[in-house]
Amino acid sequence: MPRRARLSGGKNTHGAHPMAMPLAVLVSGGGSNLQSILDKIDAGCIDAEVRVVVSNKADAYGLERAKKRGIPTWCRPHTEFASRLAFDQEMVRVIGEHGITAGTGAVVLAGFMRMLTPEFLRAFPAAVVNIHPALLPSFPGTHGAADAAKYGVRLAGCSVHFVDEIMDHGPVIIQAAVPALPGEGGDALAARILKLEHSIYPQAVAWLAAGRLAIEGRHVRIAGAAPASCGDAALPYLASPGLEQEFLPVP
Ligand code: GRF
Repeated sequence: MPRRARLSGGKNTHGAHPMAMPLAVLVSGGGSNLQSILDKIDAGCIDAEVRVVVSNKADAYGLERAKKRGIPTWCRPHTEFASRLAFDQEMVRVIGEHGITAGTGAVVLAGFMRMLTPEFLRAFPAAVVNIHPALLPSFPGTHGAADAAKYGVRLAGCSVHFVDEIMDHGPVIIQAAVPALPGEGGDALAARILKLEHSIYPQAVAWLAAGRLAIEGRHVRIAGAAPASCGDAALPYLASPGLEQEFLPVP
């Protein structure tokens, strides 16, 4: 991934730097992760611009979050398409129209509940990322946090990874672990994990937009990242690599 120059100069009409990495964010639900990324872009911590928010669900609240900020949205139920491929091809076209093509930007999956075809992934090589509410490779699939709670794990967490053709499988960028409390239900654990997602996802997108990520087989090298960072009694967690100051979660 090419290193992008940081700019000291002006901003374009959307308030982003002219060289900010263009992003498409795909959502199927609430879009709290989208919001966390937008907030960090606003705070000047991520050199990126969300150019379009795409959804397969008309009632996805993530679409409202985008509209409130004047970000273009595109939404079509995938059931309207003859095949998974036809839907993905249309998404590639729409995303491309917004200036995100191979080598020019990235696609951020933020609660997008559909597997992407190899054709979609080939359109954005090494540039599609996802967040999953479990410590991969444990508990892939749609109910990661609930499955971990049911299993009785003592440590749960979340993972940001590059997307490949296998569900929740591509090279891991960052993970954060939280203690799972005995007797805690899946919803309560998922809520605590989600809080950490809102730190590690913007952090990973910031690294991506700054050209600091390099995929080496199963491993992701992150230029200049700290080995790990820890929370405290108010919010116990361990993040690896370490979260930079501006991405630390607030209890
Ligand atoms: C998050 O738990 C994320 O890890 C998973 O889907 C959920 C999306 O939440 N992939 P939101 O829509 O970002 O609030």
